[in-house]
Amino acid sequence: MSMLNDENLLYAIDQGAQVLREFLGGEEPAAAIILGSGLNPFADSLEEARFLSYRDVPFMEVSTAAGHKGRFVLGTVPGTGKRVLCMQGRLHKYEGYTAMQVAFPVWLVAECGVPVLITTNAAGAINREIHVGDFCLMTDQLNLTGTNPLVGRSPDLVADRFVPMLGAFDAQLRGIAHRVAYREGVSVKQCVYAGLLGPSLETPAEIHMLEVLGADTVAMSVVEEVIAARHRGMRVLGISLITNMGCGIEGSNPNSDEIMDVAETREDDFARLVAGIVGEL
Ligand code: HPA
Repeated sequence: MSMLNDENLLYAIDQGAQVLREFLGGEEPAAAIILGSGLNPFADSLEEARFLSYRDVPFMEVSTAAGHKGRFVLGTVPGTGKRVLCMQGRLHKYEGYTAMQVAFPVWLVAECGVPVLITTNAAGAINREIHVGDFCLMTDQLNLTGTNPLVGRSPDLVADRFVPMLGAFDAQLRGIAHRVAYREGVSVKQCVYAGLLGPSLETPAEIHMLEVLGADTVAMSVVEEVIAARHRGMRVLGISLITNMGCGIEGSNPNSDEIMDVAETREDDFARLVAGIVGEL
């Protein structure tokens, strides 16, 4: 299978969406949900689930990051009757993929008519009013990865490349998330999220720079997915689980073990929050 690039994007979306559409079998999931580090177990809780490995989707790359399984899971969120299409495992630029490859699955789900993208990740907090274990709803993003999935000629043939980014994160979906969090007794805050290339974690000076730039939280994913989703007019909700304070804040020196450990302690609350949100869609 040849690699996704600017020459074959339209063909790749066509081929990939054909396989995904067949997998969906005429079902119309209420949302696509991208599960970040340590948040994968949400997909294991789905009922009447079916699985599609990324390997079986033309032009789709596989996730190599720890804890990322690399499959689509179509299933019912318990207690809601709502069907969702989860991505258990995401692609990151730091794995060596292009921004276009990272965004590709979002174009596929958009092509299949999925109206909402819920994208989640583990993130570090820069704003000191945000604490470890908090959930944060993204109100805006800083794409600091150095690239953009819409670079090249072919994304402009998919849809206009000059995508307006005001309100990229849907205020109405955020409102639903706040209501559900209140009902479920889960604490949620709001953040401006900075997406960096990684994979090294930030230095204290970089965390300070991000703070000056207006970022409340930081991680290494999400931004390309949001751009691709808006490119195709999907409504977007971004949720970060705060696994650590940014490097240098309150003496923090985060590492991947700590990030995964904290993510695992919040799995159950995360699942309740997302299930509640999906129930209101
Ligand atoms: N920095 C970057 N990515 C992250 C962090 C962080 O502090 N925490 C979780 N993902």
